[in-house]
Amino acid sequence: MKHIFHQGSNKEKPTFLLLHGTGGNENDLLPLAKHIDPEASVLSVRGNVSENGMPRFFKRLAEGVFDMEDLKARTEELNEFIGKAAKDHDFDRSNVIAIGYSNGANIAANLLFTYSDALKGAILHHPMVPNRETELPDLAGVPVFISAGTNDPICPSEESTDLESLLKNAGAQVHLHWENYGHQLTMPEVEAAKVWYGQL
Ligand code: MLT
Repeated sequence: MKHIFHQGSNKEKPTFLLLHGTGGNENDLLPLAKHIDPEASVLSVRGNVSENGMPRFFKRLAEGVFDMEDLKARTEELNEFIGKAAKDHDFDRSNVIAIGYSNGANIAANLLFTYSDALKGAILHHPMVPNRETELPDLAGVPVFISAGTNDPICPSEESTDLESLLKNAGAQVHLHWENYGHQLTMPEVEAAKVWYGQL
């Protein structure tokens, strides 16, 4: 997959897996990762699907209606890619924390819904429930930060509260943070994610 890797200055720190929103690319979340932990490594990936030229991580049939077969295949592809990248770039596969926005947060959530060990933790900005038909793996103790908008037209608030409950029922430690700037990724939620990360 097309990506950027930056080796962090401290090898004990996690590698941030950066996953952009629809129409974004692997450059979008680099400043955010640097703000959250300037010493961490970064693996920033571009989604392999193009929707009228807009990169995404999996296909959708309509807004908010996912192509579940493609989501499954792309989630497997991304998980395999992280493993390969860990070997190529020599980072610790077991110390990867995803930071995703919107479509990128949705595939990060689906990594959590599919594998117990794909991610050490996740920061999900404006995610949805990626799959309502699946049983989650054991996510005991996996820390997850979710930020959501009370007035997000793309993710109704039940998407966030349902995601929180599903992850909690699988054992994850979930922190749900609310803003009211619609679907936008704003500084206050990035600051909240930074505070949350600092307490891990
Ligand atoms: C999705 O398709 O993943 C969600 O609707 C969010 C978006 O990318 O617009």
